[in-house]
Amino acid sequence: MGNDLVIVANRLPVDRVTLPNGETGWRRSPGGLVAAIEPVMRTHGGGVWIGWPGGTDQKLKPFEEDGLALVPLSMTQDEIEGHYEGFANGTLWPLYHDLVAKPEFHREWWDEYVKVNRRFAEKAADLAAKNATVWVHDYQLQLVPQYLRELRPDLRIGFYLHIPFPPAELFQQLPWRRQLLEGLLGADLVGFQLPGAAQNFVRLVRQRVGHKTHRDLVYLPDGRVVRAAAFPISIDAAGFEDLANSDQVVERAKALREALGSPRTIFLGIDRLDYTKGIYARLRAFGELIRDGHFDVEDAVFVQVAVPSREQVEQYRLLRDEIERLVGRLNGDLGRIGRPAISYLHTSYPREEMAALYRAADIMVVTPYRDGMNLVAKEYVACRVEDDGALVLSEFAGAADELRQAWLVNPYDINGMKTALLEAYQAEPKELTRRMRAMRKQIRQHDVKAWASSFMTELEDQVHTDHQKVVR
Ligand code: G6P
Repeated sequence: MGNDLVIVANRLPVDRVTLPNGETGWRRSPGGLVAAIEPVMRTHGGGVWIGWPGGTDQKLKPFEEDGLALVPLSMTQDEIEGHYEGFANGTLWPLYHDLVAKPEFHREWWDEYVKVNRRFAEKAADLAAKNATVWVHDYQLQLVPQYLRELRPDLRIGFYLHIPFPPAELFQQLPWRRQLLEGLLGADLVGFQLPGAAQNFVRLVRQRVGHKTHRDLVYLPDGRVVRAAAFPISIDAAGFEDLANSDQVVERAKALREALGSPRTIFLGIDRLDYTKGIYARLRAFGELIRDGHFDVEDAVFVQVAVPSREQVEQYRLLRDEIERLVGRLNGDLGRIGRPAISYLHTSYPREEMAALYRAADIMVVTPYRDGMNLVAKEYVACRVEDDGALVLSEFAGAADELRQAWLVNPYDINGMKTALLEAYQAEPKELTRRMRAMRKQIRQHDVKAWASSFMTELEDQVHTDHQKVVR
């Protein structure tokens, strides 16, 4: 007996944490991947999810959490350092995000990455039923499709990359570029956020592995055909809309506004504390608008929620210090008693609180230097049930391809950001409604269900076509 659907992701949807009283408990994992896959698993109503439960060497048995069947895969301290903090987040993450930080290349990190990928593949091979579908996720596990195919050629294997896939000029810096491409080619369908990423991948496969390609197809010497295509990820739009309409959230949004001193305008940023997110530059832009007299701390406040992330990685620690120094300086220079310019929170919140923040905020500011999609931008839009509020969005977030009515900005251009923030601040209600209505329609029509079902349908079709081709 096995499972007909196996999700393989570096993280489980819950993270094992030690509580202040010394006991251990579960907390929802951070990030967009978990937010997107969880509703998919729930709708499917079966299947298992393999992932790391956080922490070191936890010998946990498979368990059920809130109706989801979870299979924890533990990691040793060396594996966490080499695979997770090292190769995944010290090499691939900055390289795939346009070198916003400098990637490091270490052979020992690569060795751990290989080892952990192998273990994930073995676990998936154990748990999958005959001819089952295995859906592998994200940059931490790019070798899993290949290893899994070697172990279980009967499986239908899909891979989805949640982050950007870089242009060839950057990717080819990687000493292990060929291995990673071959790893991904173990899948039948390789999904990306945007068409440009899929094209980068196919081009690299042609150049670096030497396989024949045509448009979005790669022809392998053994007759298999792999397809690479874009599937822009989304959110549970109806779920967020319902939440935003609930009495509890409406009340909480009101209370939040009051707690902030009922200012005319609340600006909001919610991000994992990551150097790709452009938090520093956006706060500077906001601070300068106050300094230049465009608005006053009595009129406007910027609420910045910075969700703790990857705190063992040096660059993340440095970033935290930099941002907190800036917040301190801005509040010291610009704030008044009871009226800080920036209301800064280093924490994560449950969905209900996020929905209340989205409802309370007049201007959502999402300004990453590079982002695969950015689901926070989509969540904000879904929660604006009155068709008001403004979104200031980086051109370099995947979401900018769909949310064309946002105020689109180049996050490297501080003056440009200031102009956009000011325009959003001064916009007429009619203008806000026109923009928000169009964006909400887009998100409703392209929700996470549509995303998952289009990926699954294409995966089925791909395997089918491939099979026919081999039989012929
Ligand atoms: C992004 C990545 C995910 C990752 C998440 C949180 O959304 O695409 O793969 O899980 O960030 O990061 P973490 O390192 O805490 O898993």
